[in-house]
Amino acid sequence: MNDTRALAAQALDQIVRGGVSLRVAFAAVAPRLADPRDRALVSALLHEGSRWWLRYDHLIGHLLQKPLNRREPVVHALLVLGLVQLAVLGMPEYAAVAGTVEATRALKRPQLAGLVNAVLRRFLRERAGLEAALQADRALASAHPAWLAAELERDWPQDIDALLAANNTSAALTLRVNRRRAARDELIGRLLQAGYEAQAHAWLSDAIVLGASTDVTALPGYAQGHFSVQDGAAQLTPELLALQDGMRLLDACAAPGGKTAHCLEHYALDLTALDRDSARLANVRDNLTRLGVRAHIATGDAARPADWWDRRQFDRILLDAPCSATGVIRRQPDIRLHRRSGDIARLATEQTQLLDALWPLLRPGGRLLYATCSVLRRENEQQIGAFLARQADARALDAIPPRFGRAAGAGRQNLPGNDGMDGFFYAIVEKAA
Ligand SMILES: C[S@@+](CC[C@H](N)C(=O)[O-])C[C@H]1O[C@@H](n2cnc3c(N)ncnc32)[C@H](O)[C@@H]1O
Repeated sequence: MNDTRALAAQALDQIVRGGVSLRVAFAAVAPRLADPRDRALVSALLHEGSRWWLRYDHLIGHLLQKPLNRREPVVHALLVLGLVQLAVLGMPEYAAVAGTVEATRALKRPQLAGLVNAVLRRFLRERAGLEAALQADRALASAHPAWLAAELERDWPQDIDALLAANNTSAALTLRVNRRRAARDELIGRLLQAGYEAQAHAWLSDAIVLGASTDVTALPGYAQGHFSVQDGAAQLTPELLALQDGMRLLDACAAPGGKTAHCLEHYALDLTALDRDSARLANVRDNLTRLGVRAHIATGDAARPADWWDRRQFDRILLDAPCSATGVIRRQPDIRLHRRSGDIARLATEQTQLLDALWPLLRPGGRLLYATCSVLRRENEQQIGAFLARQADARALDAIPPRFGRAAGAGRQNLPGNDGMDGFFYAIVEKAA
């Protein structure tokens, strides 16, 4: 079977019911799609299908007498994709309906082809009323789980509509120039010459914003390590750590190595890149090799330094903590399908343990930079507020440029889409000398 919509429906079902990540589900199906246009269509269907699942899954409940999702989950996923093609991707009605009906047959469910056709046509007839009725429910209308919409509204009551809307847009691709190997203006020139839209970020010195998402490995200079993909919000790290050549830096949650590499592109450091996931550490190795920089790479649990620490304190510690990733939902729309409300308390406990375990490893007068790609206060300002209250020798530094996001307790928070960047939190904590 090589019907693109049918393959996409099977992959989307894996994401929704199987708990598989979008990235893994796409990687599994991509080798079966020889034509780049088919690959692009399946990628768009999986991104928009994950993004809008909760909204259109709910609408299908109104369009069907008897729900299909238990008996025929893949055809149900195909129907969601049918609505996504019509309502989100703006495909011509004929192509979307005929293609989806055809895919029902490709899935060997010819007996459901008439039903699929009828549901899509009824949606087209009743669309305005169906969509208007949804507006009363903010979570469903914006395709967020109710618990997450409620938590976001509690944390950001003034910004809630903009925040949910930002999660439903796709993000520009941002590159970080490897200043050891390339100059930004020269790289922008090469990208423009090769036909890409590329421009310097308004205030980040290493960032290039690309016009459209693309296969980065095909861009000029990729193999030579002239750049990496990294959102702008993550590119403040070397500046916020106030690094100098020769410093001993611990990157406690380093994989896949984006911030490790950025620090090494700027300074000659004695850098330990630690992560507990050895498979992800293999990516750190590959990335550092491609970029031409070196670190000590160590596998270990940052919350158990006795297992891996040589008892020499660090000048700087970066804790880019495991978090809910609620600041990057626009890039990874499947996060909203896979996160559970109970995850947040568990993650906050883990973050607390990491902060407390790493603090003794910092030398007096040293700095710890706490970072997350979360927008939830429990993981960010409340986490750091409680840490400062526990540790008498810790004080927050007001050294994050005010143009980054907004003040949030002892740190600063960027909300997704602001300045084109992801949702991200930073706090800098200094140890008394
Ligand atoms: C947000 S990612 C880090 C991204 C990375 N700093 C970068 O810029 O590319 C969080 C990482 O923390 C790691 N991690 C989670 N808990 C950990 C722990 N207790 N000890 C060490 N690493 C941990 C995960 O395996 C994951 O790779």
